[in-house]
Amino acid sequence: MSFLSDKKTEHEKACEAAIQAGDAPAARLHAAKAAEFCFALAKQTTGPVAASYVTTAEGWLEIAEKLATAKLPKRNNATAHGGGPQSASASNPPQTDAGGENGGESFEVAEIPDVTFDDIAGMTQAKAAIREMIIYPMREPEKAKAMKLKPGGGVILYGPPGNGKTMFGKAIAHEIAAPFFYASGAQLRSKWHGESEQNLSRLLKTAASRPVAVLFLDEIDGLLPRRTASSSVVDNRIVTQFLSDVGGFRESDNILLILGATNKPWAIDEAVFRTGRFDEKLYIGLPDREARLGMLERSFKGVACEPQIDHSVWAERLDGYTGSDIVGIVRKARLAAFRRGVETGDDPMVLVSDLENAVKVIPSSVTPAMIKQYDQFNQQRFGQ
Ligand SMILES: Nc1ncnc2c1ncn2[C@@H]1O[C@H](COP(=O)(O)OP(=O)(O)OP(=O)(O)O)[C@@H](O)[C@H]1O
Ligand SMILES: [Mg+2]
Repeated sequence: MSFLSDKKTEHEKACEAAIQAGDAPAARLHAAKAAEFCFALAKQTTGPVAASYVTTAEGWLEIAEKLATAKLPKRNNATAHGGGPQSASASNPPQTDAGGENGGESFEVAEIPDVTFDDIAGMTQAKAAIREMIIYPMREPEKAKAMKLKPGGGVILYGPPGNGKTMFGKAIAHEIAAPFFYASGAQLRSKWHGESEQNLSRLLKTAASRPVAVLFLDEIDGLLPRRTASSSVVDNRIVTQFLSDVGGFRESDNILLILGATNKPWAIDEAVFRTGRFDEKLYIGLPDREARLGMLERSFKGVACEPQIDHSVWAERLDGYTGSDIVGIVRKARLAAFRRGVETGDDPMVLVSDLENAVKVIPSSVTPAMIKQYDQFNQQRFGQ
């Protein structure tokens, strides 16, 4: 028992040290080992103690999974915060601002993301719109110029949570090899209370000073809320300032794509849509059958599965689930298989029952009433 406990602590410490040193592969190995010893400890104990070891093990597995794709900052890096044009690059990613409220995401991250269009299942129309708007004009600048088309501009991505808006934004930046600037409306507003509009202006200028950049404004409804008779002066100022700033960047030679994401498109000020600052409005809804199939195939790629697991059957069955629900269900099933493999000593394999159990504990995170609200908005606003 104390041997297992010592080994667990040893790997936990080694993982932390490797993260500090920026060595993701070593950190990942130690995280997986820490999980393995936690599971072993769980087997030797009972009741709440065992349950707590299982929870800790799952936590370490999650960290191991994240480390598979994470880019760890080197210790001697400059901070990303308010950085000038050269403050960060893909090969030298910035440290993130630990104070971020959005799952640890920083206020401003300026690195080229790893996620690609191919990683995103479905979203055929949205991908086509972005290709036309920025990818092809960048590839064929002469032809675009001849047609007076400038790559970049503004796009509103809206739809229910967990269907890949943020992921899509990152993938766009990857496809055009652009740094990805991220800020959420709530962060922009709360962090510099009282000077939100200067703050937004500064962020816009920083992004626009790059030859090419993607600026992702999350929760844009919180930043550019519908102005009413009772709106605050600050709200009015932010919207006005934003519209004028964005207008100004259109003249520049630099290429800036502004993506505004929201779950509440109806709460955004009308002028944001009307004044042509956002040429495209893309609805990112629940994944269709093909997208669900794609997600299952991607999430199970290279993973040993019982042959009875039929992806097309599950794609049908998971109708009404969001992208993140589906990815979460598959992950839960893989974790169960892993845990069984550790316990039995056999090679792990996902069984139909693992998926069945996962579906039982992860319900769909959106309701038909929520989807109806988006349908109504699409109908009223765009006649679609
Ligand atoms: N089309 C998709 N293809 C592959 N994975 C997806 C897709 N949609 C969602 N996912 C998975 O769901 C996760 C959550 O998606 P993401 O955070 O991009 O959603 P979102 O629309 O930005 O949600 P929110 O509105 O809550 O910010 C992704 O990291 C990914 O694992
Ligand atoms: Mg998001």
